[in-house]
Amino acid sequence: MKQDMIVILDLGSHENTTLARAIRALGVYSEIYPHDITVKELHALPNVKGIIINGGPNNVIDGIAIDVDPAIYSAGIPVIAAGHDKARCEVKLAAFSDDVEAIKENVKSFVFDTCKAEANWNMTNFVNDQIELIRRQVGDKKVLLALSGGVDSSVVAALLFKAIGDKLVCVHVNHGLMRKGESEAVIEIFKNKLNVNLVYVDATDRFLNKLANVADPEQKRKIIGGEFIRVFEEEARKLDGIDFLGQGTIYPDIVESGTKTAKMVKSHHNVGGLPDDLQFQLVEPLRQLFKDEVRACGVELGLPYEMVYRQPFPGPGLGVRCLGAITRDRLEAVREADAILQEEFRNAGLDKKVWQYFTVVPDFKSVGVRDNARSFEWPVIIRAVNTVDAMTATIEPIDWPILMKITDRILKEVKNVNRVCYDMSPKPNATIEWE
Ligand code: XMP
Repeated sequence: MKQDMIVILDLGSHENTTLARAIRALGVYSEIYPHDITVKELHALPNVKGIIINGGPNNVIDGIAIDVDPAIYSAGIPVIAAGHDKARCEVKLAAFSDDVEAIKENVKSFVFDTCKAEANWNMTNFVNDQIELIRRQVGDKKVLLALSGGVDSSVVAALLFKAIGDKLVCVHVNHGLMRKGESEAVIEIFKNKLNVNLVYVDATDRFLNKLANVADPEQKRKIIGGEFIRVFEEEARKLDGIDFLGQGTIYPDIVESGTKTAKMVKSHHNVGGLPDDLQFQLVEPLRQLFKDEVRACGVELGLPYEMVYRQPFPGPGLGVRCLGAITRDRLEAVREADAILQEEFRNAGLDKKVWQYFTVVPDFKSVGVRDNARSFEWPVIIRAVNTVDAMTATIEPIDWPILMKITDRILKEVKNVNRVCYDMSPKPNATIEWE
């Protein structure tokens, strides 16, 4: 590993991740470690140039005051404390805010003047380091990767491929709930352009048969998740000599899954609980990266812009946007309307401005007029939201002429649709998705 590192010791402050991001934004690598790390463990970490002890309101947990090992202060590495009133530290930082720019200013002098850290954290070094580490971990064994075409799995695929070439086997499961052209793009980029060993499984019929007449949203999600694992497992069993499973785990997944001091935000299951008897070892080369760094890594690896900057897309795909019991013709209406929305947002430059935008088709019809006769057809609902962390969201006000154009195209081009509505609801009270 070439990069210098500033270690953040976690005393339960919720700004730890912002602090790590700010230090990385200065070009110096930073990671968060539990408060009770020992000096021996600390010395075993590569290139530690400084330590920041960051204590927040949680540093009394369950009535017990938590603290770092006092030996840390005499470990021979510069230590600084923030929001943590310790006489042992002569130098102290002001408590941190959630503002990355303010934190950068706050820690700059400690990082560069006191710790003499070098600003050598960049994607070229990261990719080179990871290639070396992946080769060391995997040797001449094979790695299996579920490649959905989402940002994280695509970047992992490109990175693993660069490291181990044809010893990487990717499986792309098309559950029939992908957006228009999505599976084709995965095949085009990874199989045709990069020459990655890619198994394509068209499981559309299998998923849609399982989902027939199932209207309950939770039930639908369970069926899609469970079936995905079964298909992936079946494909894995057909392959010989696989020892490793690649995963697109990223740093927030690890931090949000709970540290010793932070409350658990949500538990992350990247492959949704693969059975233990598969007995793979994991390769998770993105586990140190924040989402924007994952995208930068994708750019460094030469992946197309549309793939690296694509908006979030839920695992159950269009299945949760074709409300109620999914039918093939209504699913087609969601897909076609979505493709029009994507195209028009791109034309208007809104794809770079709006966090997530999609269409929903509910399972009811309304009366309209088509070709001078009464029609009885579905509505299409447009949703466009902005958010930072998807926990809350505001709606995007779209210019009237753009909405009119999208409406006109949907009514002309999408079969069985006679109305277009715009969803005005923020989260809360609504959620971003409808199911
Ligand atoms: P909600 O509807 O909960 O969505 O406000 C928040 C964000 O999460 C996405 N989402 C999912 N992502 N698997 C995912 O990977 C899922 O099952 C899933 N459900 C919702 C949603 O698109 C939004 O960005």
